[in-house]
This record gives sequence, C-alpha cells and structure tokens, in this order.
Amino acid sequence: MKVVSVVGARPQLVKLAPIAAAFAGTGHRHVIVHTGQHYDADLSDVFFTGLGIPAPDVHLGIGSGSHGAQTGAALAALDPVLAAERPDWVLVYGDTNSTLAGALSAVKQHLPVAHLEAGLRSFNRRMPEEHNRVLTDHAADLLLAPTEEAMRHLAAEGLAARSRLVGDVMVDACLGVRDTVLAGGHVPPALPEGIDPDAPYLLATLHRAENTDDPARLDALVTALAGLPLPVALLAHPRLLARAEQHGIKLARGALRIGRPLPYAGMVAGVLGAVGVVTDSGGLQKEAYLLGRPCTTLRPETEWPETLTDGWNILVPQPQERGAPAWAEIATRAAPAAQRGEPYGDGRAAQRVVAVLTGEHPGSTG
Ligand code: UD1
Repeated sequence: MKVVSVVGARPQLVKLAPIAAAFAGTGHRHVIVHTGQHYDADLSDVFFTGLGIPAPDVHLGIGSGSHGAQTGAALAALDPVLAAERPDWVLVYGDTNSTLAGALSAVKQHLPVAHLEAGLRSFNRRMPEEHNRVLTDHAADLLLAPTEEAMRHLAAEGLAARSRLVGDVMVDACLGVRDTVLAGGHVPPALPEGIDPDAPYLLATLHRAENTDDPARLDALVTALAGLPLPVALLAHPRLLARAEQHGIKLARGALRIGRPLPYAGMVAGVLGAVGVVTDSGGLQKEAYLLGRPCTTLRPETEWPETLTDGWNILVPQPQERGAPAWAEIATRAAPAAQRGEPYGDGRAAQRVVAVLTGEHPGSTG
C-alpha cells in the first residue's frame, strides 16, 4: 500500500513525525509531499531534523501569498504529483491552506483522502482554519478524529459513517519528546535574551490572523503581554514580526523579551521551564495541558475544549477588559491541583492511524 502525506506548515510537521515513524516499521510505502507553505528554517527544516522525519520526497516550494493564491498554487502543484503517485490514500493534516489543497486535489482525481485531526470546530467563521477544516472534512473519505468531542461534531454534520476515533497524534509526539527532555537528552532551548531559565517566566506565542492583522487588536494584545509582572518569552512567528513592523507596533517593551520560534524539543523544554503559557496557538494550548502548565488563550473559543477542564486553560480574548490586576492574576496563576485526564488518547494514535489506513484495524466509530 502507498500513502502520500501532504504537509506544508509547522504544526503539520509535528503531526507527521509520529505518522512517519509508525509507517517506517511497516512494509507500506509512505511518501511525503511538502507544499512549501512554510519555508523558513525555523518553521520547517528544524522539525524534520529535530523530530527525525525523513526529508520530503517532493517539495513544491509554493511559499506565501493570499489565501486564494497560496491554496491555488498548492492545488495546481499537487495535481501532477498525486496523478503520478496514484496512492491508495492521500493523508492530509489539520486545518491549513495546504490541508485544503491536498484534499481538493485528491478528491478531484478520485483518490481516497483521509483527514487527520478531523472534526475540530471553533464555530468561528472569521478563522481561515475553520473553513479549511469544514471543507476538508466534507471532502474526505475517512475522518480520523482525535477526540470524542470531534466525533460528536462530525456526527452532527452527518459524517459519522466516515469517522474513526484514533486519538491525537500530537500526544505521541509531545510525550516522547518530553521524556527525552526530562532525561536531559537535549540542548537547552534558545530562549529570548533577557529570560533567565532558572527564574519564573511565561512563554508566549501570537500568530493568528484574527489577532495580528488588525493593528488596534494587535497593539492591545502586545500591550497586555508587556504589562505582565513576569518576564514574557515571546517566540515570534514571522507573521507577527511582519504585521508588527507593517503597523509600527513595537514588540520589545515592558515584560516582553522577543525571540525566534523554537524547534520542537526546545518548545517542550521552554514550556516545562515556564510558570505558564499565553498563546493563540491550538497546538501550544494542548502541549501546555499535556505538560502540566496552565495556559491562557488569547481567543474567544478553542477547538480543544478539554483543556478548559479545572482551569488548566482559560480563554481571555480581551485581556485589557479584565483590568491589569485581574489579567496578571490569570496569566501568572499556579497550575490547578486537579489531576488531568487523558482526553487526547494514550500516545499511540499514529499506530492506530496506520492500522486504519492499511485496513488492519477498523478503528473505533466512537
Ligand atoms: C499557518 C496556518 C495556521 C497555523 C500556522 C502555524 C493557514 C490558513 N494558517 O498560518 O493554521 O497555525 O500556519 O504556524 O494555513 N512567513 C514567513 N516564513 C514562512 C512562512 C510564513 O515569513 O516560512 C510569513 C509570511 O509573511 C506570510 C505569513 O508569515 O505571509 C503567514 O504565513 P502563512 O503560511 O500564510 O500562514 P501562517 O500565519 O503561518
């Protein structure tokens, strides 16, 4: 059997790592196609090297652009690649423009397409990722869902028959790397200058279009982070740097210490070393939960509502409306005493995905 994985952006590479490893132990052929949506070494290459992912078999080099231009370029470039490969499955990951392009190219060539991380919903149609998720789920033949909640969303949209609960492959990636980090088998993370790893700090990221593209909103969020009473290691995505510069918004002020995005092991170590996390990233909300650090999410909703249990994650879409003392108290709060459950599975999701794709395991229909 041949499976083509289509990836393109940083979070997809984290999900690809356990899938590639699970395929490596089988006689099945796994072909990796990178659209090139992310091209900076910080957002792409370091994940291949750091997570031991084989180099992509095909790199399409599409780069940045408007949503239409980027999705269209990936779609046009994927058509001949998938036509030549004629895989048994095209596997697409998550909710980026590369995900939608992969699903569209496959479905129009009558190639079976499976969507990993199916069924997530924010119900916020302002998010580009929400369109990508919904459209991909409805185009795909097989929906590989990470959680019970995702299974419920798929059932509500009439997609239950195509859905399988496999668990979350990010657990596989995160817990494996955590164990290596805790065993001391890693280089200390390159935290921003001015962050003392042995003193309390917060780790922050900010990159969503809804938070970075409107200058007033971006300025309000940066001001809120800058006003926190602990040093804040802000690992700046290129989109944040580009928008801040474009709008004349200074990032390096107050509590903020600006650094580059970290490789995966560095990120895990950075979270483990932090008092808490402040972010608008879906993946980081979940990593904070898995690693036992409180998370404050700069969004009105989350696709990972399980993280909200017992206050492990708190949604604060408008920090400035809380007032400085209350905002500081939330962002710097201690980890809840409550034990966390295992809503994202047992860390063996990738093996289950491979078994479902290869027909060796039917998967659970929830
Ligand atoms: C994309 C995904 C988002 C995911 C994020 C992870 C979509 C719609 N969004 O958002 O779901 O959470 O990846 O990082 O697909 N840029 C660079 N170098 C790069 C890549 C991007 O400088 O290697 C800059 C460019 O200015 C570009 C901007 O970042 O225009 C946005 O990049 P893009 O790939 O469009 O979306 P992300 O914001 O990264």
